[in-house]
Amino acid sequence: MVLASSAIAGSHLWNSGSDSMSVIELVGVTKAWGDIVAVDDVSFTVEDGSFVVLLGPSGCGKSTTLRLIAGLESVTAGTVYIGGEDMTHKSPSERRISMVFQSYALFPHLNVAENIVFGLKVRKTPAAERDQRLKRAAEIVELSDLLHRKPAQLSGGQRQRVALARAIIAENAICLMDEPLSNLDAKLRHDMRGEIRALQRRLGVTVVYVTHDQSEAMSMADRVILLRDGRIEQAGTPDELYDRPETVFAAGFIGTPSMNLLDLTDGPGGAGISGLEGKPVLDGPGEGLKLGIRPEHIEIRDFGGLPAELVWSDYLGADTILTARVGSQSLLVRVPGRFDVARGVSVNLVWAPENVHVFDTATGRRASGRQALAMAA
Ligand SMILES: Nc1ncnc2c1ncn2[C@@H]1O[C@H](COP(=O)(O)OP(=O)(O)OP(=O)(O)O)[C@@H](O)[C@H]1O
Ligand SMILES: [Mg+2]
Repeated sequence: MVLASSAIAGSHLWNSGSDSMSVIELVGVTKAWGDIVAVDDVSFTVEDGSFVVLLGPSGCGKSTTLRLIAGLESVTAGTVYIGGEDMTHKSPSERRISMVFQSYALFPHLNVAENIVFGLKVRKTPAAERDQRLKRAAEIVELSDLLHRKPAQLSGGQRQRVALARAIIAENAICLMDEPLSNLDAKLRHDMRGEIRALQRRLGVTVVYVTHDQSEAMSMADRVILLRDGRIEQAGTPDELYDRPETVFAAGFIGTPSMNLLDLTDGPGGAGISGLEGKPVLDGPGEGLKLGIRPEHIEIRDFGGLPAELVWSDYLGADTILTARVGSQSLLVRVPGRFDVARGVSVNLVWAPENVHVFDTATGRRASGRQALAMAA
């Protein structure tokens, strides 16, 4: 008995001594079904204890990537390392990973407690230990009073918490979540974001979280991996993706409303906005370039800057999104509070050069070495 407990203590010590236990690393991972390449030569690392979000539009390969990490799909090419060990051909159970799905996948005929301990029962965990772990998991997600209810008698958020408790009770160091909040209403989704993130920090688990909602990614992630057509478009912290999108796609995907992207044209004194020559916004030629400016980085002035005509206003409560025409282009401007406009009113738009992004229209990539011009006061 003494020997057994010291062996356990020893192994625990060894485990906690290794910081890389739950590091996930994908190297050149590809998944194809015939002609359909769902994941195309993807490589990334998820650090131990971090919260990484796989973000991207429907069909870009988020769920497939997650299922490849879990071992629920086999890779066509590439290697999956977990804790530094090659797990590419290991079964899901050998990977010791928990997963939370979009459809919570609860058993309707089992009550909350039975749903939560189901996996432990399958693994023949002794009843006393099962009860102890159930108690703790239920406390963490605040379900202790609802253990005897059936899933049909729970709200969406409570069902979500049962699914989380089931992941927690397994005590795996890695948890994969595939759009776990998409069935919830906006308010609950917002609350659950905070709860999941707080829980992840408290338990120190490594999480890979899938969503197509950029605001969810921005508010929850340590790092965001933006996917497009099975490839990584850009990976970085939320700040990096917002401040320095490397492509037009990334610029358009992060931020609401999206970044304005205005076609530029050559003009006297520098590149102008198409249809508004003679008001240079960028030094040098403009043909083949797009200027990116976020709606929240544009100010409305009575004079100076660029002449614009207001077309529409969407009052959202805390702020108003204005649609304006500049030259032959249309753009959005975010202004605080309420801003009533009559259609056709003339205004002037101003932005700071450091908030300007420049992209190459043909490649869709960020153009380097171009200097945005300060606007006349
Ligand atoms: N079993 C399969 N057989 C063939 N093609 C598949 C299979 N599973 C997924 N795909 C395809 O792979 C691509 C990526 O699918 P995946 O489910 O990973 O996308 P996703 O980013 O999770 O999208 P969503 O946001 O809609 O859930 C899609 O084109 C999809 O049709
Ligand atoms: Mg999916």
